[in-house]
Amino acid sequence: LSTAPNIVGTDMFPVALDPASLIAEYPWSLLSAIVESSDDAIVSKNLDGIVTSWNESARRIFGYTPEEMIGQSILRIIPRELQWQEEEILRKMRAGERIEHFETTRVAKDGSSVEVSLTISPVKDSSGRVIGTSKTARDISTRKKMERLLVQSEQMAATGRVAATMAHEINNPLEAVMNLVFLARHCCAEGTDMHRYLERAESEVERVSHIARTTLGYYRDHGAPTEVFLHEQVDAALLIYESKLSARGIAIERRFEDQRRIRLNKGEMTQVFANIISNSVDAMPQGGAIRVHVAETNGPGGAWVRAVIEDDGTGIEEDHLSRIFEPFFTTKPDVGTGIGLWVTKQLIENRGGRIMVGSDTSWGAHGTKVTIDLPYAA
Ligand SMILES: Nc1ncnc2c1ncn2[C@@H]1O[C@H](COP(=O)(O)OP(=O)(O)OP(=O)(O)O)[C@@H](O)[C@H]1O
Ligand SMILES: [Mg+2]
Repeated sequence: LSTAPNIVGTDMFPVALDPASLIAEYPWSLLSAIVESSDDAIVSKNLDGIVTSWNESARRIFGYTPEEMIGQSILRIIPRELQWQEEEILRKMRAGERIEHFETTRVAKDGSSVEVSLTISPVKDSSGRVIGTSKTARDISTRKKMERLLVQSEQMAATGRVAATMAHEINNPLEAVMNLVFLARHCCAEGTDMHRYLERAESEVERVSHIARTTLGYYRDHGAPTEVFLHEQVDAALLIYESKLSARGIAIERRFEDQRRIRLNKGEMTQVFANIISNSVDAMPQGGAIRVHVAETNGPGGAWVRAVIEDDGTGIEEDHLSRIFEPFFTTKPDVGTGIGLWVTKQLIENRGGRIMVGSDTSWGAHGTKVTIDLPYAA
């Protein structure tokens, strides 16, 4: 290490100790071993911002080897829009000031962003003149990610409470309106303008009610999670559509191979499968078959369970496929609201799982395959 005093300025020693005595006491090789084994990136620069040392953790965090960085400008790891920071840092260093726990973003060799907490100290020569800087950078990307997730889930919970209240408040008067319109329609003769207007009013009110019910269903507390077989939830959803399925001439093929129970919210999961099956039913006006297969599988971090629901309906056009999880995206202007898959995705992801949809619209091979993966661990 050419800039020996750097080490002292990096928070590695208790403040009360005199750095000079430490350097005298510790053999050089030991100090450099400490720097190398630090979890934090430890880097030194001269006052032009040229890197003069680069430890092992700097290599790990930023991806550059010491050979690639020593002699190069530190700007290499500073995103273009933040390069003004370096001038500010160097100005403070020249004035002999220290910067502590400065949270910012740097860019690694592979182009990925790294969130870091920087502590930067001026390095002085024996006459007290500032000759460079020493910097420790702690990778705080994971912590930042957790913080953002926390904020996001709090926002979700707040939005959920508002939505649930609204849906509930809307639904009750809406049901009254629906009943009144229904009665009014039956009071006037069929074929009259009045009858047609009331028919339109009824279907529009029905639509609003469907949106309110679905959002309420999504946020409603379905009770505590319980231990169930995933295939039971698929079966429960199939039961809801039983009469519709047989009326359309849709055959069901079941293959249930999951042997372990999974802890989840029954109501939510039935809603998930009901949404998927109702989409398949909508896509098969001429009948056909729905194949459901539930089995255990391996996923990130251990055992998962996978449910595959496959239909031979019309399929989803390629330019629609990327939009099906958007709220209010629908190709069913009269009957659809476009929130079924959006809600489904939220419910699956809230339980730590994922959903994938593949589809084919080509003649002879058309159909849609929905795959849901859930980790057994909650
Ligand atoms: N199995 C399927 N076969 C064909 N198209 C599908 C299938 N599943 C989804 N889609 C397409 O994705 C769109 C979005 O589905 P989504 O369930 O979110 O809304 P929706 O069914 O239109 O309305 P709703 O809110 O009543 O469920 C559908 O309009 C349809 O175009
Ligand atoms: Mg739907």
